[in-house]
Amino acid sequence: MSAPTTPAPLNPDGSRRTFMKQAGGFLGLALAPPFISQAERLTALSKKVEGVSTISLKVNGAVRAIRAEPRVTLLDALREYLDLTGSKKGCDHGQCGACTVLVDGKRVNSCLTLAVMTQGKEITTIEGLAKGEELHPMQAAFLKHDGFQCGYCTPGQIMSAVACVQEGHAGSADEVREWMSGNLCRCSAYPNITAAILEAKTQMG
Ligand code: FES
Ligand code: FES
Repeated sequence: MSAPTTPAPLNPDGSRRTFMKQAGGFLGLALAPPFISQAERLTALSKKVEGVSTISLKVNGAVRAIRAEPRVTLLDALREYLDLTGSKKGCDHGQCGACTVLVDGKRVNSCLTLAVMTQGKEITTIEGLAKGEELHPMQAAFLKHDGFQCGYCTPGQIMSAVACVQEGHAGSADEVREWMSGNLCRCSAYPNITAAILEAKTQMG
């Protein structure tokens, strides 16, 4: 039977100085004072993690660059790196639709999409739907028909609804229900959501 191997020590020379140098970087981040923003904290952390690279995203017409690992999802890139918190994280598993955004006009669950895969594409989030003070017809219809209660699912519902109409899948209430079935609403505002989509369809041409 071979002798058990001893794991390599964290600080090979055993000195307190070496240990403090190794631990200091991460401790410094963990104990950073609260006035350091989340974005600054992530940027500082990214400098210490291998595999971090610059990811360029075109979001709502503007090109934005972030420094992140390739495993970062589009949802986290939007929310944590770009402060676009309209897209919501409901399940983080592709089951609720709260994170829906448009990529080149197609709806995607941004929690299941790697940010790095969307480079060079047009990303549209709920923040990019209105034209200045003028709401998108879908937003206006949701307001008119009370298509929400708590509102947590609403950004995802609206982005999905815009694509649903553009895909030609809003011909009837039944069709809307079918093609919006990936967007869950815990408040069960479904009848109002369906009514809003059918009305917005007439405005969207
Ligand atoms: S958060 Fe993406 S599908 Fe639920
Ligand atoms: S309005 Fe509350 S989850 Fe849909």
